[in-house]
Amino acid sequence: MGIFRAVIFILVAAMFFYISQQLTRFADFPLWATMSIIGFLAILFLMVLSLPLFFWMKSSREHKAWHDTFFFFTHMAIAYINFLIVFVVLRDILGFAGQFMESPSLNDTLYGATGSLTTLLLPVLFIAVGTLVVRRGPRRIEVPIKFDNLPKDLEGLRILHITDLHISRSLPTRFIHQLIKVAEEKPVDMVVYTGDILDDIPSRYVSDLELLKKITSKYGSFFVPGNHEYYWDGTKSVPAFSKIGFNVLVNDSRTLKIGQADLQIWGVPDPAAKMFQLEGPDFKKIEQEMNPEAFKILLSHQPSLADIAAPLGIELQLSGHTHGGQFFPWNMLIGFFEKYGKGLYKIQNLQLYVNQGTGYWGPSLRLGTYCEVAEIVLQSK
Ligand SMILES: [Fe+2]
Repeated sequence: MGIFRAVIFILVAAMFFYISQQLTRFADFPLWATMSIIGFLAILFLMVLSLPLFFWMKSSREHKAWHDTFFFFTHMAIAYINFLIVFVVLRDILGFAGQFMESPSLNDTLYGATGSLTTLLLPVLFIAVGTLVVRRGPRRIEVPIKFDNLPKDLEGLRILHITDLHISRSLPTRFIHQLIKVAEEKPVDMVVYTGDILDDIPSRYVSDLELLKKITSKYGSFFVPGNHEYYWDGTKSVPAFSKIGFNVLVNDSRTLKIGQADLQIWGVPDPAAKMFQLEGPDFKKIEQEMNPEAFKILLSHQPSLADIAAPLGIELQLSGHTHGGQFFPWNMLIGFFEKYGKGLYKIQNLQLYVNQGTGYWGPSLRLGTYCEVAEIVLQSK
């Protein structure tokens, strides 16, 4: 753990030196301007570092009045530095390419005072656009999924898939009202929540959770915990969903009789449960108790568990977790970190749908992704 923390510090410090050097070294700023830019960047990088420091403190789970302001500013600092690093790197790539294009004026433009100030200001524009995307609220999309073996009585079954809402100090109650409005656009047969719905001290968000009861369906709501429910004390956050009438599926299932068809809905907890000595995914139990005749849906926060679920004969897995990378450039790089980044995948006979997340985590913004509510429609081939 000590090595991990030291690596984080060294990486952030190295980034600070690289960024501040590149933005001031070539531009002919007066000394006071150079010092102001370096000072501004030093404050932002310290703010970025303060976030992991906060979570490494044992008392971080107790709410204090200054926490909300602290989170807002540190998240904004992370967003700003994220975009700034991208622009500085892109500028260096362009500058490098410019050397071979025999275009000396390109480098003058890029690395002059105007070029450096533009690079410093562009992240503000990206943050503004990303914030607007989130303020629009969640977008509902229809996702038809075709199966070879779909029982006739399940044809056209509609499942509203909500995931990664991250109810916390950064998600305003207004966003949950927007979600309810989107959910009410058209009736569905069931609602599933695939984890990271609550991302803070459960007792602070009882009224926000209660609001989710307004999202109704024919067969009810089903929930599996994500990693963030465990980070904020799984022994309290997971039962909070039973209290609002959700079917909480921790290596458990519900079977619905729909016409002649049996629909078995399974759920596994996020593997993060094991970090807190709680029950992790138990596929042996699922294999033993599974009804081979039923059409089986698995709810799993982690999409990667599809590799274990597929050989068991599960037909459909619904997942979240990745946020589709949430904002640029991670939306383009997510494929390097997650085997199943977003959208529909086929693994043997299992179809996996990865929702890019209904809410957001960290900075209140999305860029290159949107807040998604998926309406899954079962269809035969
Ligand atoms: Fe999440």
